[in-house]
Amino acid sequence: MSQKIFIKTFGCQMNEYDSNRIFDIVKKIGFQKTENYEDANCYLLNTCHIRDKAKEKVYHEIGRVKKIYRTKQKPIVIITGCVAQAENEEMIRREPYIDLVIGPQSYHKINNSILNHIEKRKKIDETEFDTDNKFNYLSKIKNYSSKVSSFLTIQEGCDKFCNFCVVPYTRGPEYSRPFIQIVNEAKNLVDNGVKEIILLGQNVNAYKSGNKRLSNLILEIEKFPEIERVRYTTSHPKDMTSDLIDIYKETKKLMPLVHLPIQSGSNKILNLMNRKHTVNEYLKVFDKLIEINPKIMFSSDFIIGYPGEEESDFRDTFDLINKINFINSYSFIFSPRPGTQAENLRLIDKKILSKRLEMVQNKLFENQINMNSSLENKVLNVLVENLTKDESMVFGRSEYMTPVIFNGKKEDIGKIIPVKIKKTNRSTLFGEKVNNLDQKVA
Ligand code: SAM
Ligand code: SF4
Ligand code: F3S
Repeated sequence: MSQKIFIKTFGCQMNEYDSNRIFDIVKKIGFQKTENYEDANCYLLNTCHIRDKAKEKVYHEIGRVKKIYRTKQKPIVIITGCVAQAENEEMIRREPYIDLVIGPQSYHKINNSILNHIEKRKKIDETEFDTDNKFNYLSKIKNYSSKVSSFLTIQEGCDKFCNFCVVPYTRGPEYSRPFIQIVNEAKNLVDNGVKEIILLGQNVNAYKSGNKRLSNLILEIEKFPEIERVRYTTSHPKDMTSDLIDIYKETKKLMPLVHLPIQSGSNKILNLMNRKHTVNEYLKVFDKLIEINPKIMFSSDFIIGYPGEEESDFRDTFDLINKINFINSYSFIFSPRPGTQAENLRLIDKKILSKRLEMVQNKLFENQINMNSSLENKVLNVLVENLTKDESMVFGRSEYMTPVIFNGKKEDIGKIIPVKIKKTNRSTLFGEKVNNLDQKVA
C-alpha cells in the first residue's frame, strides 16, 4: 500500500513529538508524509484541549477538509490528541465524516485501526489509557527524527489535578518510561545526527523509574559525546527536588534556562488553583539555582484572572515578574474547561482581564527586550539548526532558546558557533559569525 498522510498538529511539544512518532508508526503500513493537505489519503488532526473552544476548532477544521475534498475521494479522517480523549465516540456521532478517534495513550493501535477501517469501513474509537503498551510498542519502532534539536518524551500524564487543567483527564495518570528505553531512544536520535535533546513530560521532573530520576537521565544522556545540549520541560515547582537542583553543579550540557510555571504570584490564588506550592517555595528553588549558577534564568507560565483574583493578587503576580526577571514566558487568560473543578466558577469581568493580561504581557515583553539588547556586541554560543527560508543565512538558538540569525553556512548546521550579536528585537538576535575564536563568549 502506498498512501499519503497529512498531519496537522495543535498544542504542546508533546503533541509535536507524538505527531512525529505517528509518522514513524504509519510508515510501517506504507504511508508517506505529505505537506500538501489537498492530496492526502489520510487526514490526521492532532488536537489540544487546554484552552478556549478547542472542540469547536476541530469541527471547524473538519468542515474545511470536507469542502476541499468535495470533488475528490474522501480521505480517512483521524482525530488524535487531547480533544479525541476528552470527547471520544461522541465526535463520530456528531460528525460522521470522522472515521477514527484515537486518544494519546492508544497510538500503538493506529495501524490496526486504519487497516480495519479500510477493510471493514468500521468507525473506530480507541481511548483507553494503555500507556505501558504504547511505549513498549514505540520502543521497537525507530525514531526517524533527525532535527538538530529533537524532542524525547520520557513521562506522560499528571496526578496533580490543578483545578483549572484538563491534562490529568486527557493524558491520564503520571507514567514514567523505563530508563533504558529512553537511553536507547536517545542513542537512536544521536545516530540520526541529533545534537540537542529536549526531554518532555507533562510533569517532566516527576520522572521516576525504579530509583532513577530526571537528574540521572540528564547525566546519562549528556554522556553521548555527540550531544551538545540537553533541556527538559515542563516542570512542576513541587518536583524540583534537591538531586535535580544539585546536578546544575556538575552538568556540562544542561542549558541554563529553567522553564518553571508558577501560574500566579499570590498564595491565595495558588491555593484556590490547587497548585500544591507557595510563592516562597518557588523563590527558594530560584535562590538555590542562582546560587549554584548565577547565569541561570527562569521562564514561566501565568494564568491571568483565575476566579477570585483580586487587584492585590494580580499585583503580587506583577511584583513577582519584576523580582525574578522572567524571560521567554507565556501568559494566558483563564479559560474554564469542561470536567475540571474550576469549570463553573464565577468569571472576572472581561475588561479587567484584558487590562491585566496586557500589563503582564507588556512587562514580560519589556524583560525580553532588555535581556536581548543587553546582549548586543557580546559573543554567544549558538547551536545552528537550519538555513533561513531564503537560504541566505542560518538560524540557531542561544543557550536561553532565543532565536539567532547570522551569516553562517550550510556546513555550520549541527555545530555550536560563536556569534557576535549586532542587532536585537523582542524575539530575535541578529549577529555575525566570529572567526577569531579568541573573542570571549558571554
Ligand atoms: N504541567 C505544567 C505545569 O504544571 O505548570 C503545565 C502544562 S499545561 C499543558 C501548559 C500551561 O497551560 C499551564 O502552565 C497553564 O499556564 C496553561 N493552562 C492550563 N490550563 C489552562 C486554563 N484552563 N486556562 C488558561 N491557561 C491554562
Ligand atoms: Fe495541568 Fe497542573 Fe498537571 Fe500541570 S501540574 S499538567 S497545570 S494539572
Ligand atoms: Fe494541549 Fe494536551 Fe498538550 S491539552 S497542551 S495537547 S497535553
